[in-house]
Amino acid sequence: MRLVNLNFVFVSLLVLIEVVSVCNGRVLSPAFYRRSCPQIGRIVRSITWSKVAANPTLAAKLLRLHYHDCFVRGCDASILIDSTSGNNTAEKDAIPNRSIGGYDVIDEIKTKLEEECPDIVSCADIVALAARDAISYQFGRPMWQVLTGRKDGRVSLATEASRDLPSGNANFTTLQQQFAGLGLNIIDLVALSGAHTIGVAHCAVFQRRLNATGKGDADPSLDPEYAQFLRTQCTTPPNPAVAVALDANSSVAFDSHYFVGLSHNKGLLRSDAALLTDPRSARVVKSFQGFHDFMANFGLSMKKMGAIGVKKGARDDGEIRKNCRVVNAAN
Ligand code: HEM
Ligand SMILES: *[C@@H]1O[C@H](CO)[C@@H](O)[C@H](O)[C@H]1NC(C)=O
Ligand SMILES: *[C@@H]1O[C@H](CO)[C@@H](O)[C@H](O)[C@H]1NC(C)=O
Ligand SMILES: *[C@@H]1O[C@H](CO)[C@@H](O)[C@H](O)[C@H]1NC(C)=O
Ligand SMILES: *[C@@H]1O[C@H](CO)[C@@H](O)[C@H](O)[C@H]1NC(C)=O
Ligand SMILES: *[C@@H]1O[C@H](CO)[C@@H](O)[C@H](O)[C@H]1NC(C)=O
Repeated sequence: MRLVNLNFVFVSLLVLIEVVSVCNGRVLSPAFYRRSCPQIGRIVRSITWSKVAANPTLAAKLLRLHYHDCFVRGCDASILIDSTSGNNTAEKDAIPNRSIGGYDVIDEIKTKLEEECPDIVSCADIVALAARDAISYQFGRPMWQVLTGRKDGRVSLATEASRDLPSGNANFTTLQQQFAGLGLNIIDLVALSGAHTIGVAHCAVFQRRLNATGKGDADPSLDPEYAQFLRTQCTTPPNPAVAVALDANSSVAFDSHYFVGLSHNKGLLRSDAALLTDPRSARVVKSFQGFHDFMANFGLSMKKMGAIGVKKGARDDGEIRKNCRVVNAAN
């Protein structure tokens, strides 16, 4: 009797572990395309590197594309789908889409891969690889491992993007909850926020921090000199064409300066500053001022983020899109 019970517990545990691993993206593999498309790594890297070499601001765009994809419906390339003429407004046309870009690079990679290995490589895998390669260009070697085997989704809704992506004005509680809902902990939250060591934010996104109570006073958590600098960059009302570096000192280099600036109350977004308001995340911010600690954790957290809600390609669970902007015709 006792043995049977133990056996039952053991089998239940195994089933549980199996379910948990699938949810965590154990379906992904380090060499998913080894036989079906061995040239994928070379093709994604060479196109991404040449694009980023010609336009360094693309690295931020490609990294953010992967983040926005994974946070809404999982990493299924739903961010790439164009809105249709009917009543479907897709994710890419939701309000937080500002400064999302890099779609053309993904299209170019997809076209090349369709020539070399038709119907094999998912758009979601291309997005994950291009994000890694865009950041890695500066270092000349891959900075983290990207597992592959994702399938592409068939649904993209603007309403979900507005709901699932944290706002630049979010506080720590909201950020932690939104990340935890996707299996990401406080270390992941801090590490991934380190992506803001490159790229820009539009004035409208942080204007409230420069006029916190409506009397022209800056958010007290913002360094006064930095607030003064930001006032010289933005107008009231904000000009939608103007954007400011998230890491004022080195907005193109992927480094740990974001954490150095943040530690001196020079985080641009309220969501950046919020990482100092909790003692646990504040401790992590401090430790990530060193590049090696930051980079090692960033890579691990990117791998976790890249496994969110991955589709396995079983019946009705994803497809290999032929054109990354359009779901395949139903057959
Ligand atoms: C912690 C929650 C996050 C919030 C609230 C947030 C919010 C924002 C906002 C408001 C902007 C400025 C958009 C604009 O004005 O154009 C931005 C830019 C950016 N975000 Fe985040 N973000 C978060 C996490 C992430 C993560 C996890 C990544 C990637 C791993 C990321 C990568 C970027 C990049 C690279 C940019 C610059 C884009 C460019 O220059 O085109 N962010 N983010
Ligand atoms: C509009 O949305 C409804 C419900 O989501 C759907 O059934 C219908 O097919 C959509 N119409 C168009 C033209 O996309
Ligand atoms: C972002 O969404 C707005 C609608 O909210 C749309 O007018 C704009 O074209 C979109 N921008 C990009 C780059 O897709
Ligand atoms: C954080 O923001 C949420 C949503 O805006 C709000 O409900 C909550 O009270 C805030 N929490 C703190 C501690 O300020
Ligand atoms: C601050 O906000 C108030 C209320 O919205 C507005 O009347 C005022 O012009 C703003 N001041 C500055 C300097 O932006
Ligand atoms: C930029 O670098 C200077 C000099 O090292 C430093 O004083 C300043 O705080 C930095 N600014 C930001 C926004 O990180």
